[in-house]
Amino acid sequence: MRIPLNDLKRHHDPLVTEISHAVSRVLERGWYVLGPELESFEAEFAAFCGTRHAVGVANGTDALELALDALGVKPGDEVVTVANAGMYATTAILGAGAMPVYADVGRDSMMMDAGTLRSVLSSRTAAVIVTHLYGRLTDIEELCAVAAQHGVAVIEDCAHAPGAERGGRRSGSWGALGCFSFYPTKNLGAAGDAGAVVTSDAALAARLRALRQYGWRTKYRSEVPGGRNSRLDEMQAAILRVQLPLLEGWNRRRREVAGWYCRALKTSGLLLPHDPTAADYVAHLFVIRSPRRDEIRCRLESAGIATDIHYPVPDYRQESVRGVPSLPKALPETERCAAEVLTLPCFPEMRREEVDEVSDRLLAILA
Ligand SMILES: Cc1ncc(COP(=O)(O)O)c(C=O)c1O
Repeated sequence: MRIPLNDLKRHHDPLVTEISHAVSRVLERGWYVLGPELESFEAEFAAFCGTRHAVGVANGTDALELALDALGVKPGDEVVTVANAGMYATTAILGAGAMPVYADVGRDSMMMDAGTLRSVLSSRTAAVIVTHLYGRLTDIEELCAVAAQHGVAVIEDCAHAPGAERGGRRSGSWGALGCFSFYPTKNLGAAGDAGAVVTSDAALAARLRALRQYGWRTKYRSEVPGGRNSRLDEMQAAILRVQLPLLEGWNRRRREVAGWYCRALKTSGLLLPHDPTAADYVAHLFVIRSPRRDEIRCRLESAGIATDIHYPVPDYRQESVRGVPSLPKALPETERCAAEVLTLPCFPEMRREEVDEVSDRLLAILA
C-alpha cells in the first residue's frame, strides 16, 4: 500500500543505533531473563503511569489473565467486559476459567459506560475489565465508582492508551490493576511480544511476580497457585527503555495527525473521534464510522490506502466461543460498531500530505 496503516520502519529508523547499543549491552552482560534491564524498565514504566509497581510479562493477553489470577478470580466467576475489543479480554477470562459477560457500549463512546456496566453486574461478578478503546480514556472514574459500590475490582486494559491522561492521572492508575501490551504496533511497541501490569498495591504486585514465574516466591519454591512462565525478556526491556522517553512526543504527534483528519473531514458526515487533540486520547487508532464502511474501504484500498477494521466480529459471535453459557444474543451498539467502524492510517511519522490525500480521497468517495 502506498499509504500504510502503520510504518514501523519509519518509526524505528532514527532509533536503530540506540536500539543496537541497547541490544549489545544485553549481549555483553549475558543476562537474558529477569535482569537489570527489566528491573529498570519496570521502575521507569511505573513512574510513567503514576503507579508504585510495574510487572513485566510476556504479552498483553497474559497481562490480563495474570491480573485476573492475582485478584483471585476463579472458575465459575463472571467477569464483565466489552465484546468490541478483539477477543483479548475474552481469551484472558476464559484462560482464567471464568465466564465472560458482555456490557454493551455507549453509542458515541463505543466503550463501556456506567449504565451498560450496571445492567450486567450480578452477584457472581468477580471483576470488570475496562478497555480504553482506540487510545481514548473511558469514563474510568465513574466506572470505578459503580464497581466499588458492588465490591468488584476493576482491571484497566490500557493496550491502546499508554499515557492517556485526565486530571493529572494516567491510564492504568485508576483500577486495581492496569494491563499493557507492547506489541510492535502499539504506541509503545517492543521488537516482538511484551506486556506489563501496573498497580499501586504491593501485595498484588508480589502475587503477579510469583504468577509470572511458576508461582515462585523464591527460587524453586512455588507458593502461589496458577503460576506459569510469562516473563518480559531483557532484550525487549532494553528496547522498550530506549523508546519510553519518546512516548509522550509520539502521542502528541498522533494527536496532531488525528486533528488534521478531523479538520479535513468535519463536513464529511462521517462519525469522527471527538476532541482529537485532548490529553485523554493518544490516537492509537484513528477510527471513523459510516454505514457505507465496506464500500469506502474497498475504494480506499484501490487507491493504495491501507485501512483495517477494529473489530469486525463481536467476541460473543466468534466461532471459538460457541457453547460458552454466558453469551448474549446481540448487543445493539456493539453490533453497530462491528458493521460501521473503519481504521485509517495514523502513526507518529505520518506526513501532512498523506493525511490530506487520505482525507481528499474519502471526501471524493462520499461526494
Ligand atoms: C485492547 C487490547 N487488549 C489486549 C491486547 C493483547 O495484547 P497482546 O497482543 O500483547 O497479547 C491487545 C493487542 O492487540 C489489544 O489491542
